Amino acid sequence: MSEERIESLRRAVEASPDDTMLRLILAEALLAADLGEQSLLHFEVLLQARALPAESLLQVGGAALEADRLDLARACLEAARQAGVVEGVAALQRRVEDRLAERSGADRLRVLADGAGDPGGGPDGDAGPESTTFADVGGMTEVKKLIHRMVVLPRSRPELFARYGRRAGGGVLLYGPPGCGKTLLARATAGECGLPFLNVRIEDVIDPYQGVSERNLHQAFETARAVGPCVLFLDELDGLAYARHKHRGSEARRLVDVLLQELDAIGSDNTGLTVMAATNAPWDVDEAMLRPGRFDRVVFVPPPDEPARTDILRVHTAELPSQGTVDTGAVAARTSLFSGADLRAVVERAVDELIEESLRTGGEPPLDTPGLLAAAERVRPSTLEWLQRAKAYVEFANQSERYEDVAAYLRTREVRRRLPKGE
Ligand SMILES: Nc1ncnc2c1ncn2[C@@H]1O[C@H](COP(=O)(O)OP(=O)(O)OP(=O)(O)O)[C@@H](O)[C@H]1O
Ligand SMILES: [Mg+2]
Repeated sequence: MSEERIESLRRAVEASPDDTMLRLILAEALLAADLGEQSLLHFEVLLQARALPAESLLQVGGAALEADRLDLARACLEAARQAGVVEGVAALQRRVEDRLAERSGADRLRVLADGAGDPGGGPDGDAGPESTTFADVGGMTEVKKLIHRMVVLPRSRPELFARYGRRAGGGVLLYGPPGCGKTLLARATAGECGLPFLNVRIEDVIDPYQGVSERNLHQAFETARAVGPCVLFLDELDGLAYARHKHRGSEARRLVDVLLQELDAIGSDNTGLTVMAATNAPWDVDEAMLRPGRFDRVVFVPPPDEPARTDILRVHTAELPSQGTVDTGAVAARTSLFSGADLRAVVERAVDELIEESLRTGGEPPLDTPGLLAAAERVRPSTLEWLQRAKAYVEFANQSERYEDVAAYLRTREVRRRLPKGE
């Protein structure tokens, strides 16, 4: 088809975007004219509108694969299956899987380059040592001490541990309410050890295609082994290792099995891999994960206490115009049970007000304590819900032994003041 005719088709589609037949003709013309990427845009619209004929699905899937649009390729594959297409499905599936496997290899960099948008800062695509350290984590003295003893010391003074026959190994599971620094702390642990930090997020692993999640998880460990001594961090462990007894699907069970195998292998091969994990829902994590040599050290990361909040506020306000008028301590005193992330939200709200004011007056109003306190009034601590849930587990699920730290924390004045009784 000539360029002119394609152009007029394009205009026709613009004029009647809902005419799927017209769009299909355009998409096919674009594909035939070697304009694959443009054609895919239209094919995708058609696919979403369920207006892509079954006989075209595999062809479009193939074109998507060529263009490295794996997501679209898989969507086509899925649609083809649903439409009862048989011939060619297995072949395309294989091609998609091969590409995925290749990607996992290339993804090594993506996994390593984690931290985009994460203020913790991190390795930028290379597997260099992590630069965040405990100094970047406000407060949390107790937790830091614990991790120092459990993770950092066995690495820096192996002879001491050998002398007493104490084996290093076994992973650390951090748990607690959202936004309270679990990820930050894991990253900082890598920094303290002078090791690279590999962040494995749940979305890097979980995949609706059968067998792919397991392979992704295995690949994450392979990558870590290839990097050498490092801290491998599994975020949202409950999502990866959801309690098997609560599960009907065999898919999730297989994922738990893969994770157990990988963890047990570390125990025996001594590759210098330190595994850390985090979860908001430790009670949903499969029990088998918590056996010796696996995640046998379970550490509660509570909401920041007052000194920690002062610290966190200082970090988040340091760069703002303030004329030295901000009393972070006063704000910390009024923000009990606020998570680190909540505190950041408080600062952001106060800043929004300043911007409004600046727009009105044309000046550059400085950040001040009343502004922050007013903002704090309007932010509800996001840890409450979690603490409420934890309370139920500790009190009623006969889990008080395992969650002793939580129980102790729930008994503190700070919590009792804010957590309604008897719920
Ligand atoms: N102790 C802290 N010191 C400094 N900043 C903190 C601290 N705790 C939390 N923050 C801030 O809050 C942000 C969120 O923390 P982080 O992502 O580590 O929480 P999390 O416990 O992993 O939360 P989630 O359970 O939602 O994954 C951090 O990026 C940091 O800006
Ligand atoms: Mg996190």
